[in-house]
Amino acid sequence: MSGDKTGAARFLALHGRTTSLILETPVGKAPLWRYWGPRLPDDASPPCGLRDERPSPSFSLDRDLPLSVFPAFGGGWFYTAALKAHRNGEAFAQAFTGSRVKTVEGRLTITLEDPVSGVEVEIQMRLDGASDVLTISTALTNRGADALDVIDLAAAALVLPAAPARVRYFTGRHNREFDEREELLGAAAWRRENRRGLASHDAFPGALVLMGGAGRDDGLVYGVQIAWSGNHFQSIERIDDGRRLWLAGEGLAPGEGRLAPGETMMTPDVLATCSDKGANGVAQNFHRAIRARMEWPGGAMAPRPVHLNTWEAFYFNHRLDELKSLADEAARLGVERFVLDDGWFKGRDNDRSGLGDWTPDPVKYPQGLRPLADHVIALGMAFGLWVEPEMVNPDSDLFRAHPDWALLIRGHPLLTGRNQLVLDLTREDVSDHLFAAIGALLAALPISYVKWDHNRDLAFAGDVEGRAAYGRQVRAAYALMARLRRAYPAVEIEACAGGGGRSDAGVLQHAHRIWASDCLDAPVRLSIQRGFLQFLPPEVMGSHIGAAPAHSTGRTHAMELRAGVAATGHLGLELDIRSLDANDRLTIGSWIEFYKRSRGLIHSGAIWIGDEIDGLLWQAHGAPEDFILFVLRVDPTRERFAPTIRLAMADPVRRYRVRIEQGWQRRGWVMGGDFFNRLSDDGAEISGAWLNRSGLPMPPMLADSAVVFRLTAQ
Ligand code: DGJ
Repeated sequence: MSGDKTGAARFLALHGRTTSLILETPVGKAPLWRYWGPRLPDDASPPCGLRDERPSPSFSLDRDLPLSVFPAFGGGWFYTAALKAHRNGEAFAQAFTGSRVKTVEGRLTITLEDPVSGVEVEIQMRLDGASDVLTISTALTNRGADALDVIDLAAAALVLPAAPARVRYFTGRHNREFDEREELLGAAAWRRENRRGLASHDAFPGALVLMGGAGRDDGLVYGVQIAWSGNHFQSIERIDDGRRLWLAGEGLAPGEGRLAPGETMMTPDVLATCSDKGANGVAQNFHRAIRARMEWPGGAMAPRPVHLNTWEAFYFNHRLDELKSLADEAARLGVERFVLDDGWFKGRDNDRSGLGDWTPDPVKYPQGLRPLADHVIALGMAFGLWVEPEMVNPDSDLFRAHPDWALLIRGHPLLTGRNQLVLDLTREDVSDHLFAAIGALLAALPISYVKWDHNRDLAFAGDVEGRAAYGRQVRAAYALMARLRRAYPAVEIEACAGGGGRSDAGVLQHAHRIWASDCLDAPVRLSIQRGFLQFLPPEVMGSHIGAAPAHSTGRTHAMELRAGVAATGHLGLELDIRSLDANDRLTIGSWIEFYKRSRGLIHSGAIWIGDEIDGLLWQAHGAPEDFILFVLRVDPTRERFAPTIRLAMADPVRRYRVRIEQGWQRRGWVMGGDFFNRLSDDGAEISGAWLNRSGLPMPPMLADSAVVFRLTAQ
């Protein structure tokens, strides 16, 4: 037994490219966390069992319970437990006496048994060698003879080193998702919960922990995200030896965790990684792992087409002739996918009616959507359609026919949000109805893209039997998406929830794009996108050029900045392009061309996000030997000379061909500056070491401008 005087401790190691984890496996006990961090040599292991290197302190239990992969409440664990459960007030503590660990191709299956409380836990843990992302999930089975009430069940219990650290997390609201916050971790626990039934605008299901002075490109940073679009929790707590325990999982409402004898509860996956290359290293690992989890029509991602989405151009005010002329102009500008947003279906003249009645409005579309869809396709664009399957307006034929189909709390009046109720997808008849209604559209029309919205929180989410249905609702929505995708495999899905309320790695197992926010104000959007990119890759980040002034903030920004910000994700347009002046039309056209020739690099490989002095923001996409560098200036400069940008990813032993690839149309007052004219023409050769240590000189830039470089190693 490990740490026992009678035998040597046993260890189990998993190694990735840049990270390792080591568990100690005491016989019959849950494996103990010994290490998770930067890569160790294959033969490195702890010198002895944990108990051997830490004699019992005074006034402590004679046999303490060190941090395991599943710290349970029984047996002397004094911090937050991975499981809180009871049987009608009894069997309140779990202590595992049976433990089996199986390793198959780098995947650990850890089975823990407590015959006394009647629970069995199976933890799946896999360290992906290519991404260094640990994927962890937990299944809990009730082995007792009566119902088990689970209050909390963590999907993952992770360890952080004993060192000063900050937690970086994201709050927000509609139009201001991914609002970054940072706090020092102290002795008190840090905990974040979301009870909105969606991933939510204000509690992204993930966070970073930055050790010591770690920053964007250096220092040790840990990252966790829950692949789940519903209620969730995360907690980080200091334990007795100064290390920290990070728990994450689905948040359960009262009663949601009731398990009948023999029943199993599965958690969502938690994705966890660390990097000694700072927050950017963590983002790169997450992007690799999420790319590997995605399922694209045809098996591989096609180049991300330029979108036009009609919402901010027309809102509910649809007229076929206007839509056709918008499509004409879109095709002229090089748009590749035309998405008809909200307002197309029966009775949908405002947000008070129509949701649930998924047939074209007979007044706006007397011949259905076919004439518009055919027009779009004839112009060479793909046709996409907005739906909000989970929702129903009380003022709809569907609700009049089925007033009992909405989620509710029995005995209370129904509570609307944006004038709508949520359909109970856990009912088979409701899900079947939605499959048939959305399926009928996909079968009848040449629709290759669905924008799947969800415009309210899940308050009052009970079923007709009076039981909380938050988690089951999310699983049923995933199942409906999967069923539609099986039936219509060529269709892509965009996940949206009033902008970025459903931005998470869970929905990305079914969807191919996420609408990151309804806010198109370029500087705010940029900060939202930087938060998004910390966890999710750029090719799934819907990112549109909006109108000036921006509808969400009333501020006006130059087209170059709007376009530069939008081109860092999956580019689209969200404005009435027919009213653009000649200059803005030219600018948009040239950014679309740039995007098309650069999307291969923008949407693959790594990204590095950076800030320089004087408010210069930058972002590099690609590989160290060939990358695109976006530089964005929002505020006017305060300096006489523009700063240089130090590029940590540039290979110091190579030389780079550097070109200005796009932007810099709105040049500042430049005296001299021939170098930048050269960069705009043929480019110049610069040593990687210089770029790395001294930096790339920047041209003077006006406020609200963008310039893009391409750097290619020779
Ligand atoms: C919220 C979305 O974020 C918008 O893009 C738009 O689709 C509206 N819903 C439509 O109601």
